[in-house]
Amino acid sequence: MKFNFDEVIDRDREEGSYSSKWASTPQMAPMFKSEEVPEDRLCFFVADMDYRCAPAIVEAIQKVAAHGIFGYSVTPDEYFQAVIRWMKDRFALDVKREEIRCAHGAHEAIVEIVDKLSKPGEGVIVPTPSYYYRGDVNQVNRYFVPCPLKNDNGYHTFDFELFEKLCKEPQNTMTIMMQPHNPTGRLWTEDEIRKIADICRKNNVIMICDDVHMDFCRKDNKVVPFINVVGPEGIVMVTGLGKTFNLAGLAITNVIIQDEELGKKFRPGGFGMISPFSIAACIAAYTQCDEWVDALNEYLDDTIDYAVDRFHKELPQVKVWRPEGTYILWLDFTDCGFTSEELDERIAGKAHVSLSDGAGMEPAEGTIFRRFCVTSAKSRVAEAIDRIVDCLK
Ligand SMILES: Cc1ncc(COP(=O)(O)O)c(C=O)c1O
Repeated sequence: MKFNFDEVIDRDREEGSYSSKWASTPQMAPMFKSEEVPEDRLCFFVADMDYRCAPAIVEAIQKVAAHGIFGYSVTPDEYFQAVIRWMKDRFALDVKREEIRCAHGAHEAIVEIVDKLSKPGEGVIVPTPSYYYRGDVNQVNRYFVPCPLKNDNGYHTFDFELFEKLCKEPQNTMTIMMQPHNPTGRLWTEDEIRKIADICRKNNVIMICDDVHMDFCRKDNKVVPFINVVGPEGIVMVTGLGKTFNLAGLAITNVIIQDEELGKKFRPGGFGMISPFSIAACIAAYTQCDEWVDALNEYLDDTIDYAVDRFHKELPQVKVWRPEGTYILWLDFTDCGFTSEELDERIAGKAHVSLSDGAGMEPAEGTIFRRFCVTSAKSRVAEAIDRIVDCLK
């Protein structure tokens, strides 16, 4: 393979890393039920990857560093053309330059979108389990309104009846959708997207489509953004390079607003200045890295298939569905016979494997989930599963 995703990288000790996931600072010790951070820990709780960025991105960033002046920046046309090219070639989505606004990370963008397009005291409906939006919504004094997905033996589907009921409540004016969905890995079908949009539009509920995982498509699937299916009315689409190109530390987000009335509420160009490193990285990523992303998806397919098969064979009491998008396994440990604390004692405390506690993502009450971001060398994923299997015996 042209790119080496098998390399095992020491993201704690290697100079220049500053990784939060692998940090050995004392604050990380409680995660492992220990006074000290275990030397042999394996970390899968953060949605970033342990692969080096595509060479073209590293070179582009090195050129900016070599320049040696990092003053206030201006985002050039080349940047917007790169975004337009990516969306057109990879998603058949036609975007105009004036419809793109660059922002500093998806969280900041979502907070600003909610703030601009709704009023304090209003509700934002979020299908749960869900990525962590509660804090974003609460930060601007809006209510987080959960709309639990239906869980059919690990496969999650939309509860349209409940969603419609919540959309009809006049204080609920926005919803946040993800395509693909974090953490369940679902890719909403065109039929589901049509139903969701139809309910939202009938009830004047604005849709934020958080598509930061859109480049992660598992084999035999297709990621179709909401706008492609139902057009731009009432939709604000949030895209990003953090996940796809392992650039989360540069916080590069592009918000696409094709609904003219909604667009008028935001300044043209962007939500704020982005760094020269982000500009260079985005241009390189969206013009030179198609092959790298395709190779990455192939590697992830292979590793995820391997991981899911092992869970099915060796720990059948753990329910897990092969994701349709993302690189996330949403593992249901409810039937293992352990409390959540006991599970942590074993997986984090004994096996030194850190997964994220699903409780923060608000699954159904009484269920025990862990999120496993399968974003390391396959050998590391294999070692983690060996240890999980062992410690649950
Ligand atoms: C669905 C989703 N949205 C937003 C974010 C956060 O993005 P950012 O780091 O750009 O704020 C994440 C990170 O995991 C995510 O999974």
